[in-house]
Amino acid sequence: MAVLDITDDGFRLDGQPFRILSGGLHYFRVHPEQWADRLHKARLMGLNTVETYVPWNLHQPRPDSFTTDGFLDLPRFLELAATEGLHVLLRPGPYICAEWEGGGLPSWLLADPEMRLRSTQPAYLEAVDGFLDRLLPAVLPYLATRGGPVLAVQVENEYGAYGSDTAYLEHLAQALKQRGVDVPLFTADQPGDLADGGLDGVLRTVNFGGRAAQGLAALRELQPQGPLMCAEFWNGWFDRWGGVHTVRPAADAAAVLEEMLAAGASVSFYMFHGGTNFGFTNGANDKGLYRATVTSYDYDAPLDEAGDPTPKYAAFREVLARYGEVPDAPVPPPGPKLAVPGIALDLTAPLWDALDALGELVSGERPLGMEELGQAFGFVLYSATLPEAGPALLHLPVVRDRAQVFVDGQPVGVLERENDDHALAFTSPRAGAELRILVENQGRVNYGQAVHDRKGLFGPVTVNGRPLGPWSSRPLPLDSLSGLAFVPSTAAAVVGPAFHRGEFEIEAPADSHLHLPGWTKGNAWVNGFNLGRYWSRGPQRSLYVPAPVLRPGRNELTVLELHASTTRSAELRQTADLGPLED
Ligand code: GLA
Repeated sequence: MAVLDITDDGFRLDGQPFRILSGGLHYFRVHPEQWADRLHKARLMGLNTVETYVPWNLHQPRPDSFTTDGFLDLPRFLELAATEGLHVLLRPGPYICAEWEGGGLPSWLLADPEMRLRSTQPAYLEAVDGFLDRLLPAVLPYLATRGGPVLAVQVENEYGAYGSDTAYLEHLAQALKQRGVDVPLFTADQPGDLADGGLDGVLRTVNFGGRAAQGLAALRELQPQGPLMCAEFWNGWFDRWGGVHTVRPAADAAAVLEEMLAAGASVSFYMFHGGTNFGFTNGANDKGLYRATVTSYDYDAPLDEAGDPTPKYAAFREVLARYGEVPDAPVPPPGPKLAVPGIALDLTAPLWDALDALGELVSGERPLGMEELGQAFGFVLYSATLPEAGPALLHLPVVRDRAQVFVDGQPVGVLERENDDHALAFTSPRAGAELRILVENQGRVNYGQAVHDRKGLFGPVTVNGRPLGPWSSRPLPLDSLSGLAFVPSTAAAVVGPAFHRGEFEIEAPADSHLHLPGWTKGNAWVNGFNLGRYWSRGPQRSLYVPAPVLRPGRNELTVLELHASTTRSAELRQTADLGPLED
């Protein structure tokens, strides 16, 4: 495919003036069997390029492993993009933000207590270089200079919002080049951060959602010549637990697009298709207040979470048609959807009975952090003995992120990081009672200095002022549920952390949305595939079930309910419910 050049008067593709019309589509947030469909719809909207980040934390789950399997088959994604005739902007981080767990930085980096992320610290750079050593051989054949679709590669991500150490950016740029990246590099920053986030000799681009003229002017000021590009046009936004569902009117976003195109700028929609934070992969923000991002990454984008065109798709297509060539084809219709009412979850496996099947206990004088335990995602169960009977005041200095407290197996309260909860009063029934604290990693922070976000319990845990110990810490990553032993249950209601399982029959797979009315909080799996977290708190009230995780005939639904449920049934519906739009 064609090679991109950066000239004083703009981009050129094989020598011809070229405008990048791109959209974000993160392969790791979309089922691989749906990549081709989403890419095709990108081209039909009038895009000539797609943009994707690369999530270091999933590709290299441990320092000594690297995978490009399944959801992480980046080479296949790049091939499919090329087949669709699309170029690619590749954003390999190492930090990606993206409302993704830890901004894509692997949690094992944080096992080192001295680790300084996004810096020139040798230990950090060594890890970054190790990642690039593993990633780039898989990517190099897809660079435009070798006939592939990758036009350009981004260095870091909005680094100017984090620091000003040019030596760090320089290291990254050199590391890419030394490993064979010979397509143009670029940086992307918000208007006020363009100076700190850029690197001389590397194209600067700007990110914004509105005030296009100001954003582009800020870019022009720092970069008097060369292409004008908005590398992230935020045409929608993400949601957080406890908030509302954010939407942005199509006409408003289309007007900003028009303004940019009229100014001659190139653009990449953030997002074209957001997809889903499946499993435990959502990130969080913490600018003084911890706020976890929800499971859906619908983003109110041109394609919704299920890959169906929204009014924004049509509105953008209309604008794009005025500035470039849009394929002469109708807007694709929504895909088929499946409904299965009343799925009975009549098998149960209480968490307390399943512990040995889920993780190995580690003993110590203090509770161990998730990273010390070598664990990335999920929960840690801590336990210690209460020395005496009677009133107890439990003090947890640092809770990351949500601690459910049990005494002799009975729930006595919840402490949440986002509420700044640290103390809990209860009555210990006896000397020697067992205190259990089940701590959920609700998603590592993906923005700002708070990315140094270690999970678990920290600091001396005390009861009535006296430190407790010894402790056992048990990682519960829930990456496999195969060891669970379920028993039939007829109880009308469900209390306490427990897995529940049921089966349902379908004729043919199609996309669907899992609704869990009456359930409180937990995760849900279909045929062993972790759909993500649900929480009655909202705003999100349904979980997207991609057709490829279903199969004709019998299917299995498993729910981990952390609290209680008023029913034992769940429902697959044709429509999503991402929650109310306003407070
Ligand atoms: C910034 C980041 C993106 C994303 C958006 C908000 O622009 O670069 O990764 O986090 O904010 O969705």
